[in-house]
Amino acid sequence: MKFVTENNYESLSKKAADFIISFVQNRPDSLISLAGGSTPKKTYEHLVHAGKQGIVDFGQCDFIILDEWVGLGNDMEDSCKKAMYDQFFSPLSIQEEKIHFFDGLSTDLQDDCNKMDAFIDSHGGIDFCVLGIGMDGHLGFNEPNTSFDSNSHVGDLDMTTIKDKDPNGDRNLNQGITLGVKQILDAKTALLMANGGHKADIIGAAFNNEMTQQVPASVLQKHTNAYVFLDQEASEELV
Ligand code: GLP
Repeated sequence: MKFVTENNYESLSKKAADFIISFVQNRPDSLISLAGGSTPKKTYEHLVHAGKQGIVDFGQCDFIILDEWVGLGNDMEDSCKKAMYDQFFSPLSIQEEKIHFFDGLSTDLQDDCNKMDAFIDSHGGIDFCVLGIGMDGHLGFNEPNTSFDSNSHVGDLDMTTIKDKDPNGDRNLNQGITLGVKQILDAKTALLMANGGHKADIIGAAFNNEMTQQVPASVLQKHTNAYVFLDQEASEELV
């Protein structure tokens, strides 16, 4: 693992975007998994800008949306798919057939998982995986104690994760559908980003101690090509 610490969110996002751009310039037909959430938003803004300027061409890439809330449909507010379309795919006019995702309203979630696994296998694995980290250490919706051998699956969400999006329980968001830890681990390059003091403790828990399924992000310790990009505040508990 390589750690990169930047002064602030702005420079972290620029650095991450430059890293992704250079990867795609070298391998334009990459399979890239993108995470939703607030952390990578600014990075995606930079990527869109670079794409529009002709600095990088994402047209030959295939994309996976890392995870989705079970119960949130494609165009619903707060769905990962809507966020990724709004922030990245639509501004860059990425072709529909290049975008692969879980449908949170699917009547057969297992079938969605099987199709995703088959697609990833047919591509020979993910080339580049963009990740955030949850307050409980989750990667995608791989909550604490998810097997490190998991492929795509549906999992129950921890209370900390649910409270973030559904504080009153009105929306019945109890499960997530996600790429598995094994597929993240098998990605040729993984980039985890975190910013802000609220992420400092979980970053410390993930990377100061021995790898444990209780903190899913800690699995990146055994990734052969993982990068952790932090801002100063998020890095404060790292030793
Ligand atoms: C969410 C998503 C993850 C995301 C993480 C961090 O619940 N399932 O894909 O990376 O939690 O989110 P944020 O960047 O908003 O802190």
